[in-house]
Amino acid sequence: MKVSVSILSSEIPAGDIVKKLDNTLADFIHVDIMDGKFVENKTWTFGEIKKITSYSHLPLDVHLMVEKPKKYIDDYALLNTNSITFHYEAVNDINEMIDYVKNYGLKVGLAINPETDASALFPYLKNIDEIIVMSVHPGKSGQSFMPESLDKIRVLREEINKVGARVVINVDGGVNNETGLLCKEAGADMIVSASYIHKNIPENIKILKNL
Ligand code: DX5
Ligand code: ZN
Repeated sequence: MKVSVSILSSEIPAGDIVKKLDNTLADFIHVDIMDGKFVENKTWTFGEIKKITSYSHLPLDVHLMVEKPKKYIDDYALLNTNSITFHYEAVNDINEMIDYVKNYGLKVGLAINPETDASALFPYLKNIDEIIVMSVHPGKSGQSFMPESLDKIRVLREEINKVGARVVINVDGGVNNETGLLCKEAGADMIVSASYIHKNIPENIKILKNL
């Protein structure tokens, strides 16, 4: 299982989390960017993230919960970024935005909110690298995993295999050792976690890695 560590916390400063990640089994730093429009909350400025993420060598898995992703893509392409994921619900011309990310030589992901049907992503499976299935309503860490997300993972896994696409299924929200295992059994390749991992950084990353 690939593990992406979210730095979103109301208790621990993001920089302190990042400083603990080198020499753990974490694969990515999950950077949650919120604009106060697509979701109510706002997170860091680009300058802040540049500083915070400089404390680790891990590549970034950037999750844009914003209405207008383009300017964020221009910025985040400059960092040690592996993938940029934007929301299906936020963008009109999805194909244009997919190409916009790809033109930077980055992997591109599409995220879907709990109320969006998995089939909305079917037309894009051959053109994207990653899906983020939101298993909570986006906006904050520390919420409970929505079990109906498991069906969505199963449906996406089946369709990805059917069409022979190479897309990583990532699951974001309320993931811990128990819900993470359910995600894996449903067909997920990757999980994001903030609150569960922050409780015990090296140990809980290891537990999720070994699911
Ligand atoms: C929620 C964010 C998540 C969040 C996960 O909107 O996209 O990445 O930080 O936090 P936990 O693991 O605490 O649910
Ligand atoms: Zn996220």
